[in-house]
Amino acid sequence: MRFLITAGPTREAIDPVRYISNRSSGRMGYALAGAVRHEGHEALLISGPTSLDVPEGVDFISVTTAQQMYEAVQDMVGGVDVAILCAAVADYRPISYSNQKIKKEVERMTLELERTPDILGSMRRVFGFRGVLVGFAAETQNLLAGARNKLEAKGCDMVVANDVSQPGVGFDASTNEVWLVRKGREEKLERDTKHRIALRIVQETLSLIAG
Ligand code: C5P
Repeated sequence: MRFLITAGPTREAIDPVRYISNRSSGRMGYALAGAVRHEGHEALLISGPTSLDVPEGVDFISVTTAQQMYEAVQDMVGGVDVAILCAAVADYRPISYSNQKIKKEVERMTLELERTPDILGSMRRVFGFRGVLVGFAAETQNLLAGARNKLEAKGCDMVVANDVSQPGVGFDASTNEVWLVRKGREEKLERDTKHRIALRIVQETLSLIAG
C-alpha cells in the first residue's frame, strides 16, 4: 500500500524576509510517515518547512507555500492508496508580495489576505481521489462537532481531532491526545507520544481498508 502524508506548516511570504505561518512542528506527520514504514508500507511525505529529519525509507517532497503543497499533492495523488493530510496549511496568504523589504515608515499598516487553496477539500472533488482519506481537525472549541462536520464536508473516511487549547497536545508538542472520528464510531486515544499515536492512526487506517 502507498500512503501520501502532508505535514508541517506552510509559509506565505510577505516580502523577502517576512512570512505568515503557524506553530506546527511537523512531528505528527513525520511520525505518521515513520509508522507507515514500520507497518511495511510505502510512504511519500510532502512537507512544509520543519527542522526534522525525514524518517528512513520515506520518499520526500519539500514545499514552502500552500500553493506548492496543493500542486505537489495534485501531481502525486494518482499513485496512492491512502492519503493522510496532517499539514497545518496556512489558511490565508498576503494578496501581494513585495519584492523589496517593506520599510517601517508608517505607524499602522494593513496587510490584505486571501484564502489559500483547500487541499483536503479538493481531494475528492478536484483531484478525483478514490482511496482512503484521513483528515485532521485542530480545534480550540467544539472539537467533535468540528470533526464530524469535516468528515462529511470533505469526504473523509476518518478525521483525527486534536484539542489544541490543551498544553502538551497538538501543535509544537511531542505528545498528543486525539479522537478518531469515523461515521458512527468515535474513539479517544489517551495522551501518548506522537510516535505511538501515529502507529495507532496508521493501524486504524489499515483496518478501514481491511473492513
Ligand atoms: O479546516 P481546517 O484547516 O481545520 O482543516 C484541517 C484539515 O484540512 C487538515 O487535514 C489539513 O491538513 C487540511 N487542510 C488542507 N488545506 C488547507 C487547509 C487545511 O489540506 N488549505
